Amino acid sequence: MSWAERDLRHIWHPCSQMKDYEDMPPIVIERGEGVNLYDTEGKRYLDVISSWWCNLLGHCNERIGEAVKRQIDRLEHVIFCNFSHKPAIILCEKLARILPRGLSRFHFTDNGSSAVEAAMKMSFQYHFQTGSTGRRRFMALTGAYHGETMGALSACGCGDYSDIYKPILTDVIRVEGPDCYRCKYGLSRDSCSGECFEAAEAAFEKHGREVCAFLVEPILQGAAGMRIYPPVYLKKLKKACEAYNILLIADEIATGFGRTGKMFACSHAGITPDIMCISKGLTGGYMPMAAVAVTERIYDAFYADFGEGRAFLHSHTYSGNPLACAAACEVIDIMEEDGILEKAAEKASFFNGLLNDLLSGLSHVGEIRSAGLINAVELVKDKKTGEPFPKELRLGREIYKKALEKGVMLKPLGDVIYFNPPLVIGYGDMEFAAGVCAECVKEITE
Ligand SMILES: Cc1ncc(COP(=O)(O)O)c(C=O)c1O
Repeated sequence: MSWAERDLRHIWHPCSQMKDYEDMPPIVIERGEGVNLYDTEGKRYLDVISSWWCNLLGHCNERIGEAVKRQIDRLEHVIFCNFSHKPAIILCEKLARILPRGLSRFHFTDNGSSAVEAAMKMSFQYHFQTGSTGRRRFMALTGAYHGETMGALSACGCGDYSDIYKPILTDVIRVEGPDCYRCKYGLSRDSCSGECFEAAEAAFEKHGREVCAFLVEPILQGAAGMRIYPPVYLKKLKKACEAYNILLIADEIATGFGRTGKMFACSHAGITPDIMCISKGLTGGYMPMAAVAVTERIYDAFYADFGEGRAFLHSHTYSGNPLACAAACEVIDIMEEDGILEKAAEKASFFNGLLNDLLSGLSHVGEIRSAGLINAVELVKDKKTGEPFPKELRLGREIYKKALEKGVMLKPLGDVIYFNPPLVIGYGDMEFAAGVCAECVKEITE
């Protein structure tokens, strides 16, 4: 029996209709090296989606590996309540230095969804303990993705993930978000003034006093189809949140650590949110860990004598895991010492130029948008009107299959083919990936 057959006897894979594996069995990966993954037959796959957006500095990165090995021989885990350890302390000092100014207190969880969950609970409790007991609801954008535990899923505006669970989810106020490719105002990202923020303004006016927090993916709405919107929208959002005393939760789980060209996407708008969730790139994709970063103002609302019952009594067994903290410390050191962001910026303009040269002229490429090394190619039936292809065709999936044959992992979001490679990708690999993408898009759509 093959490895794939053995896999399918027991494993229920995430984000999958398991029947799909009948015509596309799981690819069993044996090892990783840099931006490449190798299956059990030795076939190479270029990991241009960073293994679900988390690998930052390449697979089996020597320095991160050594840091984790050093730590594993000292301390693999310890309860993080009443106890602490050096890697966590050092990591928080580093994070306080690189995060937007003012985010200086850190609460650890072990995945992105649970960080969002904690941030939502914190926001409610913050208001409850500062005299706004009526603030019990959340606001989030259409197309938003914040994870899949119940609270986080309630904030999601991607129906495919959440619709069926609606009867058991929290009723989040949905605000129509920016959709720059199909801009209702006929404007473009570079020159607009965030006119579409008027939908948020109306929602603030109507619900502003019942809301404890607004959750947002800054600059890039990933699961919505790699929608990219301009910083001006974020600036307006921050201002409105302040005016209505609503906390702003920036979900930088996908965008943090250089993905959009700056260390954190909030920096494009020069804002500091009240709460920021980080994960994925935090450990370079090595260990499951997330953190909720908050300002002193939020932290202070929980600080009191025990008897007052103001503590944040939220815990996860693996909070602040030392191996994950050791990996994260090394990631930040590498990024700073090797000038990773500066090098990625040069690659980003090369890659975007290349994709435009190869793909923008194709008859079904509606838009190529980019932020940092992230590039998304939206395929449409009608280039003039932006009319999408019928969903049932699953064209993105067909392109994905074809590209895998050619050795590139182009896992799509619907009909949006995207690249979110490790920041250390080389020029030759970018050329290879862009070439394969152009070939596959042509073969499948024309
Ligand atoms: C923006 C955003 N928020 C939250 C999550 C959830 O993180 P996790 O999958 O670690 O629970 C993700 C995961 O893709 C994400 O992209």
